[in-house]
This record gives sequence, structure tokens and C-alpha cells, in this order.
Amino acid sequence: MRLLFLGDIVGRAGRLAVQDRLPGLRERWKLDCVVINGENAAGGFGITEAICDETLAAGADVVTLGNHSWDQREAMVFIERQPRLIRPANYPPGTPGRGATVVEARNGARVLVVNVMGRLFMDALDDPFAALDRELAACPLREAADAVIVDVHAEATSEKLAMAYYLDGRASLVVGTHTHVPTSDTRVLPAGTAYQSDAGMCGDYDSILGMQKEESIRRFLQKTPGSRLEPALGEGTLSGIAVETDDRTGLAKGAWPVRLGATLAETWPTAWDQQGG
Ligand SMILES: [Fe+2]
Ligand SMILES: [Fe+2]
Repeated sequence: MRLLFLGDIVGRAGRLAVQDRLPGLRERWKLDCVVINGENAAGGFGITEAICDETLAAGADVVTLGNHSWDQREAMVFIERQPRLIRPANYPPGTPGRGATVVEARNGARVLVVNVMGRLFMDALDDPFAALDRELAACPLREAADAVIVDVHAEATSEKLAMAYYLDGRASLVVGTHTHVPTSDTRVLPAGTAYQSDAGMCGDYDSILGMQKEESIRRFLQKTPGSRLEPALGEGTLSGIAVETDDRTGLAKGAWPVRLGATLAETWPTAWDQQGG
């Protein structure tokens, strides 16, 4: 099975990059399942129902969230009627929405997608390891799911690595989000779980984490209130990880970084496609 995970969509630049490129990639790469983190899709802060719908229409099967889940308050309402939008599973009991979902991939296979949030250098939620154990026990790889994709929304690389090795052999892919910068450690772990510490973002990289540079720099120089952070509006780059799984085991046979767009050195799974973006 062929999986694509794309990192945090940041504002209009990220949304346009997804809309322009993803429909073509879905066909050319014969993607069975696409997951995208959408926590910054609405002006850098949260997601609206319209933007969620347009992301799904562009070719995402599931949209994940993170610490910005509720920046657009409407998300607390529409997440209840949108099973393809998930928020971190380790929010306290009673939080709107769900932390995991099972979708049917294009090839008919069942894909479990789980979203958790780290606790280091972030607003600490419940134990993400326990949340993962719970979700995977409810829908284990090979028994109830043909592939398992885990989005670890976290700041600290150590916490993401710990979660990946904790899940090695139990998930097809464990990928980090939140830092908006792609890491160059794409690989398959010893027991068969594909991994990349951070998927990077879908957005304008001529920016500070997808937001316009000036106000961000000013905030480091001066400790006075300023203006709102606004997303950068240059050409967006798609950034994430592509994975091929074994149909029998659900584990990864190969994993490749994906970066397609204006600013970063481009890369894509050449085994699937000589042409790229
Ligand atoms: Fe983000
Ligand atoms: Fe985040």
C-alpha cells in the first residue's frame, strides 16, 4: 500500500500547494491513503469546516490536528460531525471529537490513523503513550487495520523517537509534526515502522515557521505587544513522507522524504515517479 503524510498546512500558501499538487500526486503515485496535519490551515491558527472540507476534497483521507486544534472555535462543533478530522487522543476525557479514526483506503484496505500530542515544552495533556496503547489495542495492526499511521504532534525530538521505538512493529508509520521544519532522518525502524522526526510543513518556507518574518523577529527583539502573526504568502512547498507498506504485514518496506516546491531542495520517491512534482 502507498501512503503519503504531509505536515502542518500553514495558511493560504499551504492550502494552495495542497490543492495544486495533491490531486495529481494521488493519481501519479497511485496513493492509497493520504493524511495531512491541518492545525494551522486557517490563517496559521486552527481549521474551519470549509477549509477541512476543501482539504479532504483535494485528496486527503484524514486531517489531523495539534496544539492549535481549537483556535477556530467552530472546530469544537464541526469535529463532531466530521469523522475524517481527528485531534490528539490524549486530550482529557470529555474533549470534543476523537483521537483516532479508521478509513477505507483507495485499495479497500482499512487504515487506522491516530493523533497524539507530546508533553515536553508544550501544554501537557494526558499520557500520550497510554493513549497510543489504548488506540492500538482497540484496533491492532493486521487484526483490525491493514495499516496504522500515527501523527505525533510534539516539540521534542527525544519524545517523538521514544514514541516511535515504543510503537516499532505496531504501526506502519510514526511521524512527527509541529516544528514545521522537516528532518532528514527518514527511515524504517528495525521492526518495520517507518519514521521521520518531523514532516515539515506545507507552506511558504521563506518565513519563520510559515508566518511572516518581520513580526516574529520583532518579538525576539522587543518584549512589547505587537501586531498579529500573519502567514507568509509566497509560493508554498509540500513537505512530508511517503511510505510503501507490505500488504501482508502492514509494515513499511520503504520510506522517502517528500519536498516539492519553491524554497527547499526537492525530493520525492523516485521509485514511484521519475518526474517529481
Ligand atoms: Fe503546526
Ligand atoms: Fe503545533
